[in-house]
Amino acid sequence: MRRCFGLIVAGAALVLHKVRALSPVSDTGIDGTWSTGTGAVETGQKYFNIVNDTFIVPPLSGQSYSFLPNSDTTGYWEELVYKYNTSGCYEAMLFWQHGNYTINANNSITLTPFGPDGRQQVSRPCDTSTDYVGYYYQPEYMQRYEITTYLHYGQYTYKLQLYAYDGSLKPSMYLKYRPAAMYPTVPMHKNVIGVE
Ligand SMILES: *[C@@H]1O[C@H](CO)[C@@H](O)[C@H](O)[C@H]1NC(C)=O
Ligand SMILES: *[C@@H]1O[C@H](CO)[C@@H](O)[C@H](O)[C@H]1NC(C)=O
Ligand SMILES: *[C@@H]1O[C@H](CO)[C@@H](O)[C@H](O)[C@H]1NC(C)=O
Ligand SMILES: *[C@@H]1O[C@H](CO)[C@@H](O)[C@H](O)[C@H]1NC(C)=O
Repeated sequence: MRRCFGLIVAGAALVLHKVRALSPVSDTGIDGTWSTGTGAVETGQKYFNIVNDTFIVPPLSGQSYSFLPNSDTTGYWEELVYKYNTSGCYEAMLFWQHGNYTINANNSITLTPFGPDGRQQVSRPCDTSTDYVGYYYQPEYMQRYEITTYLHYGQYTYKLQLYAYDGSLKPSMYLKYRPAAMYPTVPMHKNVIGVE
């Protein structure tokens, strides 16, 4: 009888584990580098050079966010986004910024960029006057976030779902590195210099 009970408990634990694997979990934090799709885009030095403000175009479009906590609810963040558009004149946009974040009591996230650091590159090859690197500054408020485990390209990994200010879904991202691949978490440009 006792052995039978033990078996049932083991079976129940197994089922619980399976259910947990595909539903929201809280057994991990937001720290790390997260990336959409196949993980082609990542923060850090690979695609953005902060010394001369140049971008290297990633092989595929996508976006990446990194988080480095310094407490349960605050820390530093960095993002790199590459998107393009083939409707009409082909347009490609790359942007990078970093700063700090706060996870608010209602599970929303506030991202505050370090003022002078963000950069964007916009290219429209059919309009040669539009290929420039310029200043970029976009504070963001995310209504909420969820971390779940997810079967992604045949492997269990963590999935980060961010919800935009209006509750709409941002592209899902998957954990790529932990600890995160990031630039130093301090402002790196002293002033907003006119970058053309
Ligand atoms: C920026 O610096 C990187 C690394 O030193 C170098 O490879 C690249 O050619 C530089 N770009 C420009 C436009 O100077
Ligand atoms: C795509 O095109 C639309 C309208 O033509 C434009 O507003 C938008 O900024 C473009 N997006 C990207 C990522 O190039
Ligand atoms: C984030 O940076 C802003 C602007 O510098 C500052 O006001 C705020 O206190 C910082 N927040 C955290 C959590 O460090
Ligand atoms: C969630 O908290 C943030 C920060 O305190 C606040 O700005 C925001 O309005 C709150 N959102 C809701 C839906 O209450």
